[in-house]
Amino acid sequence: MQHRARAVAHSNIALAKYWGKRDVKINLPAVGSISLTLDGLHTATEVRFSESENDDRVWEGDRSADAAFTGRVSRFLDLIRQRAKTDQRASVRTTNNFPTGAGLASSASGFAALTLASCHALGLRLDRAELSALARQGSGSAARSIFGGFVEWRRGELPDGSDSHAVPIADRDHWDLRMAIAVTSEQKKAASSTAGMELTRQRSPYYSAWVERSENTLHAMRDAIAARDFTEVGELSEASALAMHAVMISCNLLYWNAATVALLHAVAEFRRGGLECYATIDAGPQVKVLCQPSDLSTLAGKLQDVPGVLRVLQAAPGPDARVESTP
Ligand code: DP6
Repeated sequence: MQHRARAVAHSNIALAKYWGKRDVKINLPAVGSISLTLDGLHTATEVRFSESENDDRVWEGDRSADAAFTGRVSRFLDLIRQRAKTDQRASVRTTNNFPTGAGLASSASGFAALTLASCHALGLRLDRAELSALARQGSGSAARSIFGGFVEWRRGELPDGSDSHAVPIADRDHWDLRMAIAVTSEQKKAASSTAGMELTRQRSPYYSAWVERSENTLHAMRDAIAARDFTEVGELSEASALAMHAVMISCNLLYWNAATVALLHAVAEFRRGGLECYATIDAGPQVKVLCQPSDLSTLAGKLQDVPGVLRVLQAAPGPDARVESTP
């Protein structure tokens, strides 16, 4: 007997960043984070569990996934199998509509979709907080992609991680913001987020300052989102991204390329010229720029002209992750 399901989850971009773990094994963050789920970028994942398979098999689109990614998915599926009390192996096909592994948060939408599809396929009926805590163990940022709109992933205090999951703080209709995403490389990133976080925890002289400051950032960001204060949200999110990268750079972990730097200068220049927009960068060289809807097409055109920009994607606030019916 086959148990199958298909789920779609959207990518999210943190406005207050997650960087650092207090428990690597069950993936507990050192800091809370706040993100915006995006409607333009998503992962669709189909999972089939079957008694007749001996191994988990994973495809990324039409390509068989490499051993490292298959192993990561398989270890994550073990958590779900444990809860569902089954040892059936799965075939997983996951498709992104955007470049993977280059700082566009494919692991966020990917593990959120995998969590939802796998739980549904095995008949595990979990609430959204439980799904989020489970997705967290695949990839931290995936905890946030279970929800649409503006989302906070609470750091939590409990050692078992059951209180470290995301919660929605405002739905997508609360505020129509836009994001232009300047893609500067389609290569997979050199250092995984997990390795990068551990490196900075062990080596950065600024790591503890980053962790201490995060509560203030979260507090201010919640208030600014509730008040729809664009300048405040923009300034806080740019500052959070730059502080995170300062911590990374302090131990020679540099995710940027020349176009990333050119884009930071360009965004500051656009602001001086009256186009209000703010940059944020994750563990990769792409620059995501927050703006108001009426400025999106002008901004996207200007970003496209910055040297080294390959293409510009556009996104609006996105929906909850969802199960889709399988034919
Ligand atoms: C830089 O979720 O990719 O995008 O938990 O190790 O899988 P793991 O990390 P991941 O972290 C990405 C962090 C970030 C900032 C953010 O999304 O908050």
